[in-house]
Amino acid sequence: MSQPCVNIGMVGHVDHGKTTLVSALSGVWTDTHSEEMKRGISIRLGYADTTFRKCPNCPEPQCYTVEKTCPGCGEASEELRTVSFVDAPGHETLMATMLSGAAIMDGAILVIAANETCPQPQTKEHLMALNIIGIKNIVIVQNKIDLVPKEKVIEHYHQIKEFVKGTVAEDAPIVPISAQQNINVDALIMTMEEKIPTPVHKIDKPPHMLIARSFDINKPGTPIKKITGGVIGGTLTEGILHPGDELEVKPGRKVESDGMTRWEPIVTKVSLVVAGKDNVEEATPGGLLAVGTTLDPTLTKSDSLTGQVAGLPGTLPPTRDDLKLELHLLERVVGVSDEEVIGPIKTSEPLMLNVGTATTVGVVTSARKDIAEVKLKRPVCAEGESMVAISRRVGSRWRLIGVGVIKD
Ligand code: GTP
Repeated sequence: MSQPCVNIGMVGHVDHGKTTLVSALSGVWTDTHSEEMKRGISIRLGYADTTFRKCPNCPEPQCYTVEKTCPGCGEASEELRTVSFVDAPGHETLMATMLSGAAIMDGAILVIAANETCPQPQTKEHLMALNIIGIKNIVIVQNKIDLVPKEKVIEHYHQIKEFVKGTVAEDAPIVPISAQQNINVDALIMTMEEKIPTPVHKIDKPPHMLIARSFDINKPGTPIKKITGGVIGGTLTEGILHPGDELEVKPGRKVESDGMTRWEPIVTKVSLVVAGKDNVEEATPGGLLAVGTTLDPTLTKSDSLTGQVAGLPGTLPPTRDDLKLELHLLERVVGVSDEEVIGPIKTSEPLMLNVGTATTVGVVTSARKDIAEVKLKRPVCAEGESMVAISRRVGSRWRLIGVGVIKD
């Protein structure tokens, strides 16, 4: 498999079929965590790579496939590009995870099930998140068309059109499919080829990796001599990474001494880079990577490094304990039935902030109309002018209320 060159997000309301669609496109069922299987919902970000291919003989859209042999005529298909899917959870309590995934999406598929009226709360909230983060390359999938008669599919299509009016997805194509029955998935591949182009990346810069997951891949009881170092997963936003490179991870690890807490960058070495299922000699930006390191795996287990950034030592942005944010708030809270008006941010109020793949909570220390200063509970490593998704506690949940831009 070639290296993936673009990250495509799967977003949308719970149970609308995101994981099933990733599976139809890649053969990978991304809900592997025991709790996910028990509850039947995605909890963590899921990943899967697939290669889009085209049959040289068959007409459009039937020529688009992920199979090496064309299912229509049996001819060998030709490779177009390899993509990585980022499967976001749709449950309303998991918005922070969705936002952390959105930070690494180059484009997104908004999955909307045709057997429920549109929009459902997280259909709206996820689209708002794409809007805020600035993800413009969107394809809408009208899923589960096998469950409803044709007239209902058409009625539902009009509901979608009405819903996306005035949003970033106003002109997004709408592809009716059944992910479960594999209906029209070829037309969806064709549409992704047209609407979600491979971004142009700066590869002459030092590598900068956003960490979205981290793992300890050793089975319990592995003898010390056979233990494999910690693994981090994520995406390069720029630059090229090689096995053997020195790697700095920031903010790093929490150190407590003399009653004080500080964060120390972690320095390690890249032992292995896996992209598109293969070990590679160099990884380029675009798709998802797994990077083996020489770190003690207890430092990487259970996503403990999620939200951190990695790069060559001395090249990463500053670690920030406080953020000064230029505010752009929404008018109303979305994703709830009662869409109350969003009031100004107040001093002392807690906020949840998503900065890149990091999720952190902070307390507002000063608030004016357009600027707020926030003291973070857990620091973030971020460049000035980066975008931050801002959520506020409404009832018992964090709700997206706007975006901030980091000011120095
Ligand atoms: P979360 O990640 O938890 O938000 O859910 P999801 O959007 O990933 O939904 P998932 O793929 O887990 O599908 C939910 C249920 O819908 C499963 O029982 C699927 O089998 C079913 N489903 C998904 N796509 C289709 C479809 O096209 N037709 C039918 N009939 N059922 C489908």
